[in-house]
Amino acid sequence: MTSSFDERAATWDDDPTKHERARRAAAQVRSTVALDRGTRVLEYGAGTGLLAQQLAPDVGPLTLAEPSAGMREVLHAKVAAGVLPDARILDLDLTRDLVPDERFDLILGLMVLHHIPDLPPVLQAFATMLSPGGTLCVIDLDREDGSFHGDGFDGHDGFDHDHLGAELADAGFAPPRFVPCGAVERDGRSYGLFLATCRLRHGRQDHGDAA
Ligand SMILES: C[S@@+](CC[C@H](N)C(=O)[O-])C[C@H]1O[C@@H](n2cnc3c(N)ncnc32)[C@H](O)[C@@H]1O
Repeated sequence: MTSSFDERAATWDDDPTKHERARRAAAQVRSTVALDRGTRVLEYGAGTGLLAQQLAPDVGPLTLAEPSAGMREVLHAKVAAGVLPDARILDLDLTRDLVPDERFDLILGLMVLHHIPDLPPVLQAFATMLSPGGTLCVIDLDREDGSFHGDGFDGHDGFDHDHLGAELADAGFAPPRFVPCGAVERDGRSYGLFLATCRLRHGRQDHGDAA
């Protein structure tokens, strides 16, 4: 099935505000999480890889998960052009697919979680894939009145921080730290973004890392 993201993929990077959003998110992630060339990164819902591009010089192996074929086509072109050197691209939707038997030190999601109506299985999958001591970084919309996507949208109208914290706790995470991460301007309105950073709760840290 073709998604609206398939149709928008080829022109996604034409919008300078998307680059700016990714730059800001990367700066916040860098100032919050210790990164080095050994950090194994999964970016979930990577789109055209704008956030990964920003962080690539600071981290180790990059895995970009993206269910839209159109977005993956752009990602493959960027790998071939050396824009995202050595990134691995996965067709992965954790609401539908098995959880990969892999571990990552940093899992990132920029503007993806609000598109996923049924979040608990995805958060549980993140907890399963996170290495002990690893970090999950979610950059997404603060709670809004539904005008960001408008009528017919079946995802989340942004996130109440306490509610997202409770969903993360149910999945095995310690309480997240929320910091502001800029805003998206749309139709003359400003929608705040947050960065939520969290680790596995003590006791989940030693979960099945033998894989
Ligand atoms: C608003 S775009 C953000 C793309 C990119 N992270 C960025 O900020 O430029 C949302 C992305 O999430 C992906 N997506 C939607 N539902 C998803 C799901 N269930 N699992 C993983 N990715 C999903 C879409 O294909 C799309 O690329």
